[in-house]
This record gives sequence, structure tokens and C-alpha cells, in this order.
Amino acid sequence: DWTMAAFRDKAIADIRQKVGDRKVICGLSGGVDSSVAAVLIHEAIGDQLTCIFVDHGLLRMNEAEEVVTMFRDHYNIPLVHVAAEDLFIDALEGEMDPEVKRKTIGRLFIETFEAEAKKLGGADFLAQGTLYPDVIESVSFTGGPSVTIKSHHNVGGLPERMNMQLVEPLRELFKDEVRILGRELGLPDRFVGRQPFPGPGLAIRCPGGITRDKLRILREADAIYLDEIRKAGLYDAIWQAFAVLLPVQTVGVMGDGRTYEFVCALRAVTSVDGMTADFYHFDMDFLGQAATRIINEVKGINRVVYDVTSKPPGTIEWE
Ligand code: XMP
Repeated sequence: DWTMAAFRDKAIADIRQKVGDRKVICGLSGGVDSSVAAVLIHEAIGDQLTCIFVDHGLLRMNEAEEVVTMFRDHYNIPLVHVAAEDLFIDALEGEMDPEVKRKTIGRLFIETFEAEAKKLGGADFLAQGTLYPDVIESVSFTGGPSVTIKSHHNVGGLPERMNMQLVEPLRELFKDEVRILGRELGLPDRFVGRQPFPGPGLAIRCPGGITRDKLRILREADAIYLDEIRKAGLYDAIWQAFAVLLPVQTVGVMGDGRTYEFVCALRAVTSVDGMTADFYHFDMDFLGQAATRIINEVKGINRVVYDVTSKPPGTIEWE
């Protein structure tokens, strides 16, 4: 009979056999998949593993610090934290086109990762948190229609460029199984249960060109929204929930003064695999309360709307 404990032991033995006494580099994104892969590989080969965390400055509130603390202090896994916010934001500032934004982020990510890997003297293996659905998707893509809805951001192409072999210990697992494995490896529940987050991060939730101040506003609104969702006990029932900062300012009134600030859209969907999704049916009182908090606590937002679009015809992210 199949258990996650048995899977873990087998995976560790396989990694040891494949890697021997050679070196592995793992790209950490801050998300669940790459973190679980890294902790598993570290159990197998210890400090033959080094993680590179390219921090593009587009993560949610406190996320980068949490990842760094967890890996360095709790797990003692060698970690290079590349604070590349300026590089990414300077390149993106003023860019309106969603595909150009995605491609810019993907290119800078690969360049930054490659440069850091070279500084470490390279490695024989590159570790990735590829899941079974990712494997299927890339197979079905070759036979499917050649329409790109969005250029996905990942480290595809890196292994060939850098002449490395791949280590992908999660290739047979689905997302829910990765979460079970993560708990088995001792990762905190709150971390393992995190909703998916896209590689290009907050840049694709800030349509119409990002600025540092817009990212600050978006991050604060998003944190309040998620806090309200957790407090209402709804976090685990929702596939993804997030705030989007619209490039539109509207007139409002605060006290006896006029305001002219940005609109924030709230999004929440249920889904099994992200391929299709339904918008989440919140209670209106919940939405009203989240909106009130956001408008009161975030300087720069004076209006909140809720996105009632499912996928299709919408996509989950706005860009
Ligand atoms: P869409 O917006 O296409 O998103 O309906 C489907 C799922 O994929 C996530 N997503 C991404 N994940 N890199 C990722 O790793 C990306 O470039 C990317 N774009 C979208 C999105 O958050 C949702 O879960």
C-alpha cells in the first residue's frame, strides 16, 4: 500500500543514487512546490544542495522574508538570497503590455539565476518543483492548438543553456499530494496550504504599468483581503484570492474632503487545477467589510469592486 512516508523514502534513495557526491542547485520561487522539492533534496544530500532565491520584488507582503527565514534559520539549507528588486522594477516601470511584462520578468529571472549559479561555480544538477500536471500540460501542448494565451514564467530552457541535468522529485505528484509530502517533511501547515501564486507575481496584478508606489498599495490591499478571508475561515475553500490594482482613479469623499485615488478589484475563484474556474460567491457583508478596511487602511485606494468573471471567458489572473 502506498503512503507518503514510503514515497518520501523512495524519493530520497532515488535522489542519492542519481546525484552521488555531486552538486545540485535549486531555484526557489517562494512557492510551495519549489520549497518542498528543496527540503526533500536537502534531506537526501544535505549541503550538496544550494538554493538560489531570485527575489524580484514582486512577492506578497512579507513573503520574501518568510522564505529566507524558514530556509536559513529553520532548515539550515544553504541559500543565496538575490535581492533583485531594483533590476526588475526599473526594467518594468512604465511597461503596459502584459506579454512584454511577462517576457521581461522571465528573461531577467533566467539571467539573474544563471549569473548567481556561475558565482557558485556551477553544478551538475538543476532541481525543479515540476508537478505531474506540468508534465502533462507540456506534452499536450505539443499536439494542441498553437495559441499562447499567456507566456508562462518558469525556468524552462535553463538546463540546456547551463548544461545541467534535471532533478525533479515531484514529477509524479499532484498539488494536494505535494502538500501532504510537505507536511510529512515538517513544513508549517500555513506555508504548505498556501494558495498558488504566479511566477511574475504582483506585476500581472497591476495592469497598465507598475511603479514602486502602486506595488506598495497593492501589497497592502492584498494583505488585508487575505487577512479577512483567513479570519472568516474561507481560505482553504478558495483556490486563489487576491487584489488587483486598477490603473483608474475615481472621485470619492472622506470626511469633508474630496479624494481622487485608485480602484482596487478583488478576485476569488474556486478551481480544481486552474484550467477552469468559477468566481467565488462571497456573502455581501464579507465583501463590504473587506472593502471598508482596505479603503480606511490603504493610502491610495478609495473604491473597491468585486470581479464576478469565471474562466472561461476570463482568466484567473488579469494579465
Ligand atoms: P490564468 O490567469 O492563466 O492562470 O487563468 C491559471 C493559473 O496559473 C497561474 N499562473 C502562473 N503560474 N507562472 C506560474 O507559475 C505564470 O507565469 C503564471 N501565470 C498564471 C495563475 O495564478 C493560476 O493559478
